[in-house]
Amino acid sequence: MTDTPNAAASGTFAVGGDIEVHRLGFGAMRVTGQGIWGPPADRPEALRTLKRLPELGVNFIDTANSYGPDVSEELLKEALHPYSGLLIATKAGLERPGPDNWVMNGRPDRLLEETKRSLKKLGVERIDLWQLHRIDPKVPRDEQFGVIRRMIDEGLIRHAGLSEVSVDEIKAASAVFPVATVQNRYNPTDRGSEAVLEHCEREKIGFIPWSPLGNGALARAGSAVDKVARELGATPSQVALAWALKRSPVMLPIPGTSKVAHLEQNVAAASLRLSDAQFAALGS
Ligand SMILES: NC(=O)c1ccc[n+]([C@@H]2O[C@H](COP(=O)([O-])OP(=O)(O)OC[C@H]3O[C@@H](n4cnc5c(N)ncnc54)[C@H](OP(=O)(O)O)[C@@H]3O)[C@@H](O)[C@H]2O)c1
Repeated sequence: MTDTPNAAASGTFAVGGDIEVHRLGFGAMRVTGQGIWGPPADRPEALRTLKRLPELGVNFIDTANSYGPDVSEELLKEALHPYSGLLIATKAGLERPGPDNWVMNGRPDRLLEETKRSLKKLGVERIDLWQLHRIDPKVPRDEQFGVIRRMIDEGLIRHAGLSEVSVDEIKAASAVFPVATVQNRYNPTDRGSEAVLEHCEREKIGFIPWSPLGNGALARAGSAVDKVARELGATPSQVALAWALKRSPVMLPIPGTSKVAHLEQNVAAASLRLSDAQFAALGS
């Protein structure tokens, strides 16, 4: 793996049926400070990391207004605007009273307000993929789905997705608007969303596994994927990502990092192929 890595080797998926992206994407939550709060410790390196994305063929980037808050969207704009050939996906529905503090707020007026704020922060007229960060149990879910329908109809957003949801919730939302993507936590050692993934496969919904590196744990030597990594002469992070890509054609992993070297290492996973035996050893 000495050539420049390219996410194109991960294959493609058409988000919402019409925005084709390379399946190996990027999560922009990590270009913020401790507790996903404030600016990143090394801002120049975070900017270099974001600028490197298109050079490595990464054209699917996930963020949220709550990352920072605002910091991730602002840095993306500074590094990549006007986003030629890139799909920038953002989310709303979580308020941030402080570091590591996430509070759901799914009130329709609030979701609308936050989306308009994301439009400004990202510097776009329409958000290509907007995701409801959480369905807020304090607000009737149909009210939350209804405002998403309205934002699609009014052209504020092109496609919409959900995050941390069940099959039942996806079905309920699908009655109100077309669900383009689902973003649930998923990696070789965290398979709680298997039924959701299978539903997404049947419905051609993009499945975006967050924490695909187990929040960094799977990237370390000695992790659950380390043995296969050593067999392949690859890094553990590459094996975790190659496993996810092999698991399903609707899988769109978004590993997060604030460092160019880690980004390059992760993108090289796009061309790493696990044998069926290695795949099975990690849990097919
Ligand atoms: N929908 C949701 O509720 C939700 C929740 C959490 C996250 N997300 C999204 O999912 C994305 C990914 O999740 P995540 O960032 O929590 O977890 P992750 O991608 O599983 O792991 C990220 C961590 O791994 C480290 N890392 C990345 N590449 C590495 C490498 N090659 N070698 C060693 N360490 C490496 C990063 O540190 P360095 O910066 O030091 O590389 C970072 O601490 C986020 O960026 C965000 O966009 C969504």
